[in-house]
Amino acid sequence: MKKTILDMLRSAGESFVSGENIADRLKVSRTAVWKHIRGLRKSGYDIQSSERLGYKLTGTPDLLLPEIIQNGLNSKIIGAEIIHRDSVDSTNRLAKNLAHNGAADGTVVVAEEQTGGRGRLDRNFFSPKDKGIWFSIILRPKCLPKDAPKFTLMAAVAVAKAMERHNLRAQIKWPNDILFDGRKIVGILTELSAEVSRVNYVVVGIGINVNVARADFPEALRDIAASLSEMNGNKNLSRADFFRAVLEEFDALYVTKDFGEVFKIWREFNITLGRRVKVISAESGETFEGTAVDVDADGALIVDTASGRRTVYAGDVSIRATK
Ligand code: BTN
Repeated sequence: MKKTILDMLRSAGESFVSGENIADRLKVSRTAVWKHIRGLRKSGYDIQSSERLGYKLTGTPDLLLPEIIQNGLNSKIIGAEIIHRDSVDSTNRLAKNLAHNGAADGTVVVAEEQTGGRGRLDRNFFSPKDKGIWFSIILRPKCLPKDAPKFTLMAAVAVAKAMERHNLRAQIKWPNDILFDGRKIVGILTELSAEVSRVNYVVVGIGINVNVARADFPEALRDIAASLSEMNGNKNLSRADFFRAVLEEFDALYVTKDFGEVFKIWREFNITLGRRVKVISAESGETFEGTAVDVDADGALIVDTASGRRTVYAGDVSIRATK
């Protein structure tokens, strides 16, 4: 019902839609229409009403509701289904539950706020209300478990391309952080359910600091986290527009699964290759330094060290000041 009313108001553009028209279409009374309009206003929609002319949509809230995001979303698989929560502990956790219970390939789980957002290596991820985009995408690719990390690079590339549409240049640090001025704007946590030779599902969780002002961050994060708005000259961005852009870019990459292309674009935005790096390997816990020379066909980082070439599949990389 809500969707039909919104569709009618949207397609009327600058004109009013009469209460009678809406009531006829929905086969409900005009009082029921009025109640739905009140509900929409409560969700943040600005709807002008005139006794004589009816209703006109004059403003849409910057929320990540499915009916807002899917309006004009140009994608085939990603976001065909969007599950929205005002508040959730972690969209990755909810997405894994839904995937376990059969949610379709491309289902997106998004929240206005996370109370227990998770980062890599069991860290917390700060996810304040209405200021960022905290979401997870459920994927069901036909691939081997070893290929799952490639979807992390795909996600980083999708966000970088969405930023480009907003005239913001991304800097990707291997494998999954997008930085501004050395501080993190976007974090990605990919989780996997698989058998030895088959992936059940992949959950790609993406946290984007969109309009988190410097003062909004807890003090401990102020020097290591940043926001798209800061990059945008301290001007807020529409979260809904940015979210739509990311979903569309991810969809375009996911439909073809052309990882050659993903790596090519990833290289264009990366700030890791060619740099002196310190690596903390997630596999062995070992720390070593070297020069990051490439990513291999699996998305692993290749590092030349004094004792030879090393391949890093998972870990923390920090970029050293000079080579
Ligand atoms: C990292 O940088 O360590 C990864 C951060 C990933 C955060 C996102 S926000 C949406 C999704 N839900 C979570 O609990 N985590 C991911």
